[in-house]
Amino acid sequence: MMRRPVRVAVTGAAGAISYSLLFKIAAGEMMGKDQPVILQLIEIPQAMDALRGVAMELMDCAYPLLHTITLHDNVEDGFKNAHYALLVGARPRGPGMERSDLIEVNGEIFARQGKALNDYANRDVKVLITGNPANTNALIASRNAPDLSPSQFTCLTRLDHNRAKGILANQTGATPRDVNGIIVWGNHSPTQYPDLHHATILGEPAINQVDMNWYKEEFIPKVQQRGSEIIQARGLSSAASAAQAIVDHMHDWVLGTEPGEVASMGILSDGSYGVEKGIFYSFPVRCNYGRYQIVQGIELNDFSKECLKVTEQELLEEKAVVNHLLPEETAASHDNLSICLRSGVTLYADGTGPDQDSKFMTTNRVM
Ligand SMILES: NC(=O)c1ccc[n+]([C@@H]2O[C@H](COP(=O)([O-])OP(=O)(O)OC[C@H]3O[C@@H](n4cnc5c(N)ncnc54)[C@H](O)[C@@H]3O)[C@@H](O)[C@H]2O)c1
Repeated sequence: MMRRPVRVAVTGAAGAISYSLLFKIAAGEMMGKDQPVILQLIEIPQAMDALRGVAMELMDCAYPLLHTITLHDNVEDGFKNAHYALLVGARPRGPGMERSDLIEVNGEIFARQGKALNDYANRDVKVLITGNPANTNALIASRNAPDLSPSQFTCLTRLDHNRAKGILANQTGATPRDVNGIIVWGNHSPTQYPDLHHATILGEPAINQVDMNWYKEEFIPKVQQRGSEIIQARGLSSAASAAQAIVDHMHDWVLGTEPGEVASMGILSDGSYGVEKGIFYSFPVRCNYGRYQIVQGIELNDFSKECLKVTEQELLEEKAVVNHLLPEETAASHDNLSICLRSGVTLYADGTGPDQDSKFMTTNRVM
């Protein structure tokens, strides 16, 4: 028996990542092989012709799970009633543009998208920001959505996580499925910290199976710089691997992480591991029942503590650049996130779920 279709909104739907992503979603790789989807595809007005072409190709695949495709040249229409919103579209860095200029132009786009999600999306929409700078764009979107919980917003660091897993497997002669417990901490940028101290290969500590020099001098910079390495080799930025990472992130969030496995997700910091509250930071998480929870109690050595601080500092600096896009009214909810709210519990129509007076998650929808 078929389930009711869910609405998946995607921005930047005529871009390079979406050209892989949309076909995976329609094939059931993200939400499961029994979950029909409605794709609400969003682009800027100049790209609507290209988007029509993508929609025709989707139609021509005749995917049994693809219920409907709708095309939109604005986010207000495109986000209507969305259960999942994948914010992929962003302005790329142009010639002569500094990173701070990029943060600024994209910041405005994500402020509008946060407001549109607040006003039009389903009340328990799950949001994933991929467009760069992903962590800071997630903060801007979340801060501009006062009626949604900050726990509903996440940003993509799964590509870094998958890269770390793939590179480690390749180095040690293992296969990726033998590798567990990879963690990527912090920003989706070259300051991120891919941490192998808790990883295992076939159950044995990974760190004992690699040379410490290789870990610090080769592995960490390689994962951090992998995006540039791919641009140099291909002349184009990573797109198919980013699409796969988006699928993995949403799949785990909605359907749960494998038993015993952790995923890396960019989420609002609740102060865990001493990371300052109020920024989107990549943490190790476990997911079930559509919720995520930070894995607690991981021991950090001095080297790791230092790496966590460096990437935290960069995020605080990015936050300062976009401060004018962060409305005061949402400061408190972001600076004092509680564990209960972060778990993203859905309130059901029969009254089960979190407290009725909870400011967030007041949906009646049962999925
Ligand atoms: N977080 C990550 O791990 C990760 C990995 C890879 C790429 N990225 C980022 O993802 C983004 C997309 O990458 P891509 O390769 O698909 O780029 P792309 O340039 O091929 O496509 C981006 C698309 O977004 C559209 N767009 C721009 N502004 C929009 C808006 N306001 N609303 C809707 N659509 C809009 C553009 O028209 C374009 O079609 C980039 O910002 C890239 O840096 C992030």
